[in-house]
Amino acid sequence: MDLRRRDTELRELMDDPDCDPAALAQTLRRFDTVNRVVSGWGTVWRRHLRPALARLDRPARVLDIGSGGGDVTSRLARAAERDGLRVEWVGIDPDPRALAVANERTRAGLEFRSTDSAALRASGERFDAVISNHVLHHLGDAELRSFLDDSLALSDGIVLHADIERGRVAYGLYAAGIVPLQRGTFLRTDGLRSIRRSYRAPELRAELASHGTWHVLRPAPFRVLAVGSGRA
Ligand SMILES: C[S@@+](CC[C@H](N)C(=O)[O-])C[C@H]1O[C@@H](n2cnc3c(N)ncnc32)[C@H](O)[C@@H]1O
Repeated sequence: MDLRRRDTELRELMDDPDCDPAALAQTLRRFDTVNRVVSGWGTVWRRHLRPALARLDRPARVLDIGSGGGDVTSRLARAAERDGLRVEWVGIDPDPRALAVANERTRAGLEFRSTDSAALRASGERFDAVISNHVLHHLGDAELRSFLDDSLALSDGIVLHADIERGRVAYGLYAAGIVPLQRGTFLRTDGLRSIRRSYRAPELRAELASHGTWHVLRPAPFRVLAVGSGRA
């Protein structure tokens, strides 16, 4: 396995519109467990998002672009409640199959919409913070450019895009660790393909240098985080 370069030719099974719907739904539901273990959002919440929202000193609105099955948005909503912050969360995803699973998690203060970042930007709606998880590595060059630009235009505060960092150790640990969860899902194939498509921090830094001012951090093991400042 050559992990020295991003393998952008690989397509994930879940990106096929004709993939098995039952396996896809099960994959999206189990992302809850996978993201809880690997995504590092606990640290990102405490170090970046919570302080930014607390500084507003008023109820905040946060947008999650590409919210998929909605588990990250939902977990952040619970963290905000626990920490006594009043936040309205909006997750958007144009994929109706993802939205169906995300809607199982809807509750007061947490809403999922079937739309994409370009359409939401065009509607004129704006947020105090914009986030994403595991979207960057899915995107081709042109999509990445518009996704980043939309995210900056939709936020008048912090912008946080979190993703996997490619590497041999991440690959080996995921291949072994996913075994108990993989049955009936695309978790093994797509997770390993995701790692092979993902950036290393210096690559992401170089890629984002031509897309505005971004800081690329490593908030947790095997994770990258692009931090920007919205211009809504
Ligand atoms: C791998 S999924 C990540 C889902 C979820 N954030 C998670 O961490 O499990 C990437 C999602 O991004 C969505 N997506 C890609 N580009 C988007 C855009 N410009 N606006 C909204 N959603 C987008 C896709 O439809 C897909 O569901």
